[in-house]
Amino acid sequence: MTQQHSRKQPLSIAFIALLAVTLHQSFAATDAPPTAAPQTTAPPPAPPARPERGNYTVTNGNGTACLMARMGLQLNVSFSSASLNKTVLEVVNLQPNLTKSSGSCDLDSATLLLKDDERATSLTLVFSLNATSSKYHLSGVTLLAAWPDMHVPFSASNRSLDYLRGTLGRSYMCREEQTLAVTVNFSLNTFQLQVQPFGLKGDQFGAAEECQLDEDDMLIPIIVGAALAGLVLVVLVAYLIGRKRSHAGYQTI
Ligand SMILES: *[C@@H]1O[C@H](CO)[C@@H](O)[C@H](O)[C@H]1NC(C)=O
Ligand SMILES: *[C@@H]1O[C@H](CO)[C@@H](O)[C@H](O)[C@H]1NC(C)=O
Ligand SMILES: *[C@@H]1O[C@H](CO)[C@@H](O)[C@H](O)[C@H]1NC(C)=O
Ligand SMILES: *[C@@H]1O[C@H](CO)[C@@H](O)[C@H](O)[C@H]1NC(C)=O
Ligand SMILES: *[C@@H]1O[C@H](CO)[C@@H](O)[C@H](O)[C@H]1NC(C)=O
Ligand SMILES: *[C@@H]1O[C@H](CO)[C@@H](O)[C@H](O)[C@H]1NC(C)=O
Ligand SMILES: *[C@@H]1O[C@H](CO)[C@@H](O)[C@H](O)[C@H]1NC(C)=O
Ligand SMILES: *[C@@H]1O[C@H](CO)[C@@H](O)[C@H](O)[C@H]1NC(C)=O
Repeated sequence: MTQQHSRKQPLSIAFIALLAVTLHQSFAATDAPPTAAPQTTAPPPAPPARPERGNYTVTNGNGTACLMARMGLQLNVSFSSASLNKTVLEVVNLQPNLTKSSGSCDLDSATLLLKDDERATSLTLVFSLNATSSKYHLSGVTLLAAWPDMHVPFSASNRSLDYLRGTLGRSYMCREEQTLAVTVNFSLNTFQLQVQPFGLKGDQFGAAEECQLDEDDMLIPIIVGAALAGLVLVVLVAYLIGRKRSHAGYQTI
C-alpha cells in the first residue's frame, strides 16, 4: 500500500506518513496494558496517591490457602478531630509492608483481617457463600482505628453489604478503582483488586470474573479506535476526490 502511494507526489507521502503515525498512536493506546489505564484517566488524585498493592492470604489449619486477595486499599474516614474540634475527612492508604493478614475460613463464610499495629488500624472483610447458588459476595466490613487526632477511637461496621459478587471456584477482579460505601462515615476504595474467598485450588486464583467498570473501560478504546478508523477513511476519500478535482482544474488552465 505504501509503495503504491510513494510513486505519487510528495504531498501524498506526507499524508500517508501522518496517517501512519496517527494510526500507530491509536493502536498503541489500545494495546497498552489495562493496568496503566486508571493512571491516565483518573483525575489528579487527592492526597494521598494510589495505594500500593498488597498480597494477602488466609490459610486454614493444614496450611493450604483458603482466601487470597491482591489489592490496594484506601480508607476514607470522617471523624471528629481533637485538634480542630470539628469533623474532618482523612484518606489513608493501607501499606502492605506494614499490614499483617490473618483470618479464618468456614464452609459458608471467610474472614480476612488486616492489621496495621503501628497506626492502630484494623480492617475486617467478611465474605459469604451461598451454597445453593454457588455465589459469594463481600457481606461485611469493619474498621477499627485509633489515629492520633481522633477524639475517640473510630469504629464502623456494616454486616449487610453486597459487594464483589463472584462465583464459587472463580476469582473476582476489578482493575479500576471501586468505592465501597460502608457507613456514612467510612468508605473503602479498592485498586487493582483480585480476590477469591472460596474454592481455591492450590495457591492459584481461579478464572477471573471482571467487574462492570473494567468492561466499560475496555469498551472506550475500541469505540475510539473504530471512530478514528472511520474518520481516517472519510478524510482519505475526501482527499482522493479533492486531488482528482484539482488535477482536472490544472489541466483546463
Ligand atoms: C504477590 O503475588 C504475586 C503472585 O503470587 C507475585 O508475583 C508478586 O511478586 C507478589 N508480590 C509481593 C509484593 O509479594
Ligand atoms: C486441608 O483441610 C481442608 C479442610 O480444612 C481440606 O478440605 C483439604 O483437603 C486439606 N488439604 C490438605 C492438603 O490436606
Ligand atoms: C471520601 O469521602 C467523601 C465523602 O463520602 C468524598 O466526598 C470524597 O471524594 C472521598 N475521597 C476519596 C479520595 O475517595
Ligand atoms: C459519623 O460522624 C459524625 C461526626 O463525627 C458523628 O456525629 C456520627 O455519629 C457518626 N455516625 C455514625 C453512624 O457513626
Ligand atoms: C468544640 O466545639 C463545640 C461546638 O461546636 C463547643 O461547644 C466546644 O466548647 C468546643 N471545644 C473546644 C475544646 O474548643
Ligand atoms: C514500607 O513501604 C514504604 C513505601 O514503599 C516505605 O517508605 C517504607 O520504608 C516501608 N517500610 C518498611 C518497614 O519496609
Ligand atoms: C441463596 O441463593 C438462592 C438462589 O439464588 C436464594 O433463593 C437464597 O435466598 C439464597 N440464600 C441466602 C442465604 O441468601
Ligand atoms: C450498610 O450497607 C447497606 C447497603 O449499602 C446500607 O443500606 C445501610 O444503611 C448500611 N448500614 C449502616 C449502619 O451504615
